[in-house]
Amino acid sequence: MIFVNESSTPSFHLTNGKISYIFHVLKGSKILEHLHYGAAIRPRDNYDYLIEREVRPSNNLYADTHTTSLEHIKQEYPVYGTTDFRYPAIDIEYPDGDRISHFSYTGYSLISGKLSSDKQPMLRANVLEDETLIIHLKDIYSEISIDLHYTIYKSHNVIVRRSVIHNKDAKPYKLNRALSASIDFSHNNFEVVHLYGAWARETHMERSPLLKGVQNFSSTRGASSHAHNPFFALVDPNTTEQIGEAYGFSLVYSGNFLSQIEVDTYNVTRASMGINPYHFAWDLQPGTSFQTPEVVMAYSKDGLNGMSQQFHNVYREHLLHNQTPFKKVPVLINSWEANYFDFDDAKILEQAQLAKDLGFDLFVLDDGWFGSRDSDNGSLGNWTSDLRKIPQGIADLSEKIQAMGIHFGLWFEPEMLSVDTPLFKAHPNWIIGNPDKNISHGRNQFVLDFSNPDVVDNIFEQMSEVLSTSNIDYIKWDMNRYISEPFSNFLQRHQQGEVFHRYILGVYDLLDRIRKEFPEVFIETCAGGGGRYDPAMLYYANQNWISDDTDAVERLKIQYGASMVYPISTMGSHVSEIPNHQVGRITSLKMRKDVALFGTFGYELDIVKLSEHDRDEIREQIKQFNLYQTLIHQGDFYRLRSPFEIGLTAWMIVSKDKKEALVGVFQSQASANPAYDRMKLAGLNTDLEYSIKELDSDMKEFSSRYGDDLMEIGLLLNENFTGRADEYWGREKPGEYNSRVFYLKA
Ligand code: GLA
Repeated sequence: MIFVNESSTPSFHLTNGKISYIFHVLKGSKILEHLHYGAAIRPRDNYDYLIEREVRPSNNLYADTHTTSLEHIKQEYPVYGTTDFRYPAIDIEYPDGDRISHFSYTGYSLISGKLSSDKQPMLRANVLEDETLIIHLKDIYSEISIDLHYTIYKSHNVIVRRSVIHNKDAKPYKLNRALSASIDFSHNNFEVVHLYGAWARETHMERSPLLKGVQNFSSTRGASSHAHNPFFALVDPNTTEQIGEAYGFSLVYSGNFLSQIEVDTYNVTRASMGINPYHFAWDLQPGTSFQTPEVVMAYSKDGLNGMSQQFHNVYREHLLHNQTPFKKVPVLINSWEANYFDFDDAKILEQAQLAKDLGFDLFVLDDGWFGSRDSDNGSLGNWTSDLRKIPQGIADLSEKIQAMGIHFGLWFEPEMLSVDTPLFKAHPNWIIGNPDKNISHGRNQFVLDFSNPDVVDNIFEQMSEVLSTSNIDYIKWDMNRYISEPFSNFLQRHQQGEVFHRYILGVYDLLDRIRKEFPEVFIETCAGGGGRYDPAMLYYANQNWISDDTDAVERLKIQYGASMVYPISTMGSHVSEIPNHQVGRITSLKMRKDVALFGTFGYELDIVKLSEHDRDEIREQIKQFNLYQTLIHQGDFYRLRSPFEIGLTAWMIVSKDKKEALVGVFQSQASANPAYDRMKLAGLNTDLEYSIKELDSDMKEFSSRYGDDLMEIGLLLNENFTGRADEYWGREKPGEYNSRVFYLKA
C-alpha cells in the first residue's frame, strides 16, 4: 500500500484503494511537500503535476529563485521562519536561544504493521495487512532528527500519524512545540465540525464556516476536558450525514491538546493537531527522544456518518482490548445516584441481592467506601475501607456480593489527594502547585503530582492492596478536577514546562501497571463524567462514563455528538431516577431505557425503592439489551436526525451483514396536528425484505418493507388511521419526551 518513487527527490504514496496520501521531497531544501490527501488516485511514477507553485511577492530560501518560499509550499511537518510565517508543527530552541531549524529528508523505512510503545497509548495494526512508512528527517544545523510515522490500514480509510524527535547532539535543546501532525490542504472549501461542552453537557456538536486566519479548539486544563474534545472534522459545505467529503482528526491523548486550523490569504488550510504548546517546554537532553501522541485521520466520501464509522471500526479493532473477565459488556448497576455518600454494608448488600435477582451482571460501589468519607470533603488518597460504613471491610463485602452470583466493582479516584489524609500529612509537597503561592482546590481536593514516580508508586501500592485482597472485577477510575497551578515540587526549574505532559504520562503508567498486574479487572474511566473522553483513555479502558448528566433528553445530544468519533460500545449510559438529578426532568422508564440502550447500558437508581411494576420492567429491559447487545456494539451506527436542529432525534444501527437493524426515534417536543414525516433509513441492503417490529409495543408487526424502499421513501412516523378512524378520538397521544425503537430483521 506504500508506493515509493525512488529518485533524488523521492515521492511517497500511501493508498489502500479508497484513500490516497501523497507527498514528495523538494529538490535543494529536501523539505517534504504535501501533494494530496483524500479520495484514492492511482499510483504514478511522478506526481509533479500536483505541484502548485505561483510566483508571489515573498521571502525565498535561496538566491536567484522565486519559487522556494515555504509560505507558499504545502508541507508535511513545517517549521516557523525560513520563509514560512504560519504556525509550525515543531519549534526547537537551540542552546544559544536561536529557534530557526531546517529539517531535510535523509531516508525512509517501511514496516509491516506498526511500532508500539508501552509508555504511550497507541493504535495497534495488523502485521499482515497494515503498513507504516517512517520518514527520517535531520536538522541541517544540529544533530536533531525527526521520524515521521504514517500508518495506513488496509481495511480502514484511516492514516495514523505521529512524530518522534531525537536529540543525537551533545547539547540539550528545548522543544517548545512538537505537534503530532500538520497537513496543508490547497483550498478552504470547508466547514469545521467540533465537539464542545461543559460538565454535564459534554460533546455538543457545532458546525461553522472557516474564517481566514487561525481558529483553534484546545485544552489548557490538564485533561482533554469537558470544554473541547480532541476531535475536529473538516467537511465540504454540502456534506451531510449521508453524503459528501469529511476529514476527521482525532488525537490519542488525554492531556492539554491543540486542534488548529489556519487559513492563509491564498485559501490554503493548514490543519494541525497535537500537545498544546501553551505551557509546554520539553528539555530534550542529549541521547533522548520525545514521542508525540498519535493523530488518527479518517476520510470518507459518505458524509459524517461514513467518517464516524471509519473511527468506530478502527477504534473497535485496533484500540479497544478484550473484555475481561466478562464475556460480554456487563449490564451494571452503579450506586452513586442511589446512595451518594449515605450507605452502610446492609444497604449495599440488599441492593446487590436485588440487582442479582433482576438480572444485572455487575454491582458497582461508587464513591464513599474509603477513609471516612461522608461528603466530597476528604479522604481521597486514603484507599482503606471506611469501617464505620463497612465494618468488615471491602474484602469481606466483595466476597459476600460475589457469593450472590453477581460481579463486584469499585470506584477509585487515584490521582487526587485530600488534606485530611495520612498521605498528605506525610508528603504535603506531593500535590501539584507551588507551596509558596495559593493552590486552588477543586471539589475540595488537590491533584497528586503524577510527574513524580514515587507518587505513582504509592498509589499503585495502595490500589494493589485493595485489588489483591478483595474480589473486584471492575474499577471506575474517576478524576474530578483540573490542574490550575501547574508546578511540580519534584521537577527542576528548567523542567516546569513538562508538568502537564509528565502528569499524563504518570497517569498512563499507573493505568498500564494496574492493567498488567490485574488483567482480570475491567476498567471504566471517568472524569466528572466526560472530562477525559478521548481515544487514549479508551486504549486502557473500553468504557467511559461520558457524562454525569443522566437525563434521557440531555443525553441525546451528548451521545449524538460523541458518536462523531467514539464507538457506541464505549459510551457509559445509565437509566437513572426521576425527577432526574441533573435537570429535574421526568421521563418514562421506557424512554430512559431506549436512550441508554444505545451505549454500554446500565442503571443508577435505588432499585430497592422502586415499585414491583418498575422492577419487572427493568428485568425485561435487561433481557432486551442482552438480546440486542451484539448488534448495538458491533453494528454500523448512522445518525439520522440531529437533536441540535429539531425536537426529534433519530439514529440507527445496522449489523455488518445488514440483516438486522435497530432504529431509535426520540421526540423531545410534542406538536399538535403534526406535518407528515417520512424518515429515510440508511445502511440497509436494498434487496432485502425487512420485517419491522416496534419494541415494547403491543402493536402488530408493521408490514415488511424492502431496504431500497426504507432508504428511499423511509419509515412513516405519522400514525396511519386507515380502517381505524374510530380510534382517532380515543387514541393515546405520545406527549413530550417519548421514544420508539424499531427492530428490523431481514
Ligand atoms: C464524579 C463522577 C460520578 C460519581 C462522582 C462520585 O462526579 O462522574 O459518576 O462517581 O464523581 O463522587
